[in-house]
Amino acid sequence: MAGEFENRVIVLTGAAGGIGQVTARQFAAAGAKLVLTDREENVVGLAAELVAAGGEAVAVIADVTHADQVARIAAAADEAFGGVDVLVNNHGMILGRPFLETTEAEWDQLQNGVLKSVFLVSQAVLPLMLGRAGANVVNISSVSGLVALKYMSIYGTAKAAVIHLSKGMAIDLAEHGIRVNAICPGVIDTPQPRQFVSTLEDPAAAFEAFSPMHPIGRIGEASEVADAILYLASDRASFVTGSALVVDGGMTAV
Ligand SMILES: NC(=O)c1ccc[n+]([C@@H]2O[C@H](COP(=O)([O-])OP(=O)(O)OC[C@H]3O[C@@H](n4cnc5c(N)ncnc54)[C@H](O)[C@@H]3O)[C@@H](O)[C@H]2O)c1
Repeated sequence: MAGEFENRVIVLTGAAGGIGQVTARQFAAAGAKLVLTDREENVVGLAAELVAAGGEAVAVIADVTHADQVARIAAAADEAFGGVDVLVNNHGMILGRPFLETTEAEWDQLQNGVLKSVFLVSQAVLPLMLGRAGANVVNISSVSGLVALKYMSIYGTAKAAVIHLSKGMAIDLAEHGIRVNAICPGVIDTPQPRQFVSTLEDPAAAFEAFSPMHPIGRIGEASEVADAILYLASDRASFVTGSALVVDGGMTAV
């Protein structure tokens, strides 16, 4: 829907990643003003590309596990656009590790990178969203937050908490007119699942095994998650809050 996000300001984390880049382009095509943030420098090139195409976008290189860097994201949004309508917490990291081999440091890394970072970004950006009609937050969780998957106990625990946090935020923020939803993707063709299998014995075979896990018979495309993000972020989802939208080719229906 061209123009659906005209004059809406979107803060998108993990914007340099597979789902992030596609989502940024879809928002830009719908007229949004974008604050694109990632710890990877190519987020700067993405913002420049969208501006060159006639859009409005700024880039912020920041690590969302550090409150002082997260504060720079909110400051940049305020300075560039004077407020925020939609926050998409899309950043994420993964660890594939048998439970008994997982270290305390890895536990801390996952809880910070997947869960605490959503808390930090939301706390920093939400004050800029108060009083703006249609304001909402979309947190990207995972099917791993709904069902337990092999070697994903630590990642899945953090993603399950992201769903719960989203529901709690939805209840608390309803009085401010702010909706909060989560999305639970199945395996999506981005660098993340390739990183996951890279630590396993036979990465190619492990990647091949992903498709049959989805009744639809294939893994998903980043655009299929972006479509869900834009739906939840739009006024078309005006009665949707506290939900965890599954986008998984039927994986968790079996
Ligand atoms: N690809 C999948 O199969 C899949 C499945 C379920 C859920 N997800 C979730 O979707 C979201 C997007 O993942 P993706 O598939 O695009 O992966 P991706 O690895 O391509 O992108 C993730 C992005 O997040 C950024 N990032 C990670 N930690 C960061 C930090 N501390 N500070 C700043 N930036 C940080 C990375 O630099 C990267 O650009 C993630 O939350 C992921 O967990 C992905």
